[in-house]
Amino acid sequence: MQVIEAIRKRRSIRRFEQKPIPLETLKKLVDAARVAPSAANLQPLHYILVVNADLREKIFPTLTWAGYVAPKGTPPPGEEPVAYVIILINKDVAREDYQLDAGAAIENLLLTAVEEGIGSCWLGAIDRHTIREILDVSELFEIESVIALGYPSEEPVVETMKDSIEYWKDDSDRLHVPKRSLEEVLEIKE
Ligand SMILES: Cc1cc2nc3c(=O)[nH]c(=O)nc-3n(C[C@H](O)[C@H](O)[C@H](O)COP(=O)(O)O)c2cc1C
Repeated sequence: MQVIEAIRKRRSIRRFEQKPIPLETLKKLVDAARVAPSAANLQPLHYILVVNADLREKIFPTLTWAGYVAPKGTPPPGEEPVAYVIILINKDVAREDYQLDAGAAIENLLLTAVEEGIGSCWLGAIDRHTIREILDVSELFEIESVIALGYPSEEPVVETMKDSIEYWKDDSDRLHVPKRSLEEVLEIKE
């Protein structure tokens, strides 16, 4: 798959098949994140891969899904994520701009997931305190984001934004994601 194809195909997925993802595939996603650009090459990111069913059940209620269409964007029973990657920042290593490192690494992970046929959702609206307790995360690490993963059981569509940036669901429960047009965001100096 071409990189541009993965970029265009990637959408946030919030309904998943209950089919396990092979551990080797999940490790490949984190390995793609590992080699992302990093300011001063400090590489402050650390990752926890959660596949254990009991832990997944505990993590699920700590996540907030798709605010603009709540509660319809929350994965319904039987379509929850089958794995999570918890993105951590090593505070001993990180500089102030660590969020840029996190963004680059996470996008690598999400695009590799597309290539593997895996759907993902990047979650920042998370209960960090409870996640720390569930996974016994050391205070050395900041909990940055959670990436939910699974084979997709929905197919959101992207469209050109008209009046609003808010994604919405149609009568058949399909998610529509407005993106600003190239004309709106690009300025060319020739
Ligand atoms: C930093 C960040 C935090 C996000 N947090 C959440 C979240 O907490 N819950 C959620 O359902 N989606 C979350 N998203 C996904 C966005 O809602 C999604 O990227 C956006 O609606 C555009 O849809 P797309 O990913 O399909 O292009 C987050 C995305 C980013 C980049």
